[in-house]
Amino acid sequence: KQVPVLTIDGPSGSGKGTISRLVAVRLGWHYLDSGALYRAVGLAAAWSEVDLSDAEAVAACARRTEIEFRTGEGGAEPHVIVNGKDATHQLRMETAGAAASAIAAHPPVRDALLDLQRSFRRSPGLVADGRDMGTVIFPDAAYKVFLTASARERAERRHKQLKDKGVSVTLDGLLREILARDARDAERAVAPLRPAEDAVHIDTTGLSIETVVARVLALVNP
Ligand code: C5P
Repeated sequence: KQVPVLTIDGPSGSGKGTISRLVAVRLGWHYLDSGALYRAVGLAAAWSEVDLSDAEAVAACARRTEIEFRTGEGGAEPHVIVNGKDATHQLRMETAGAAASAIAAHPPVRDALLDLQRSFRRSPGLVADGRDMGTVIFPDAAYKVFLTASARERAERRHKQLKDKGVSVTLDGLLREILARDARDAERAVAPLRPAEDAVHIDTTGLSIETVVARVLALVNP
């Protein structure tokens, strides 16, 4: 019998990360933060001064980058160790998001991360968070969710998240960056952000985290 997978896809700031981690804890399943893999590769490429527009060079970098997740307690954000360095803080910065989005457009880079992502599918189950979890990586997933929220609400959430971490950025700047990244992710030729045909859509605008977690859990345990 196949290990069950719940995919949670959506744009940045839709609440995917928070919701996915909490749902994984409640179900006692493993958790894959695929965005962190793209961020880590973007960062590793920048560290070794690889040209981010050179698809093959970045793909080679993706294959040799060591990425380790140190699980947080009770749904806390896990620490991410990239080539032996704790990169957790750097990875959350908008510069890492932009680098991730740039390198994620290269097909060889996506191929390089394919097997690694699928290797997270281990018993008793997996919650996979990203852009193409339900469409490309786990098309056979039993449960698929597509989370959205208005751009303004997503910018406000990111703003609060960064402020809590002591990073100062303007809301308007964030909104612009989010809209630019959305457009790039939706319009790219490979694995563009789009819902799987069989995904359940949840618009999280104005909903509490608990409400969204409950709705997602209800899909798995009706
Ligand atoms: O989800 P997160 O904001 O961490 O993702 C960072 C970037 O990585 C996204 O903007 C997207 O371009 C890319 N990504 C992707 N496929 C995934 C996860 C993330 O292309 N499955």
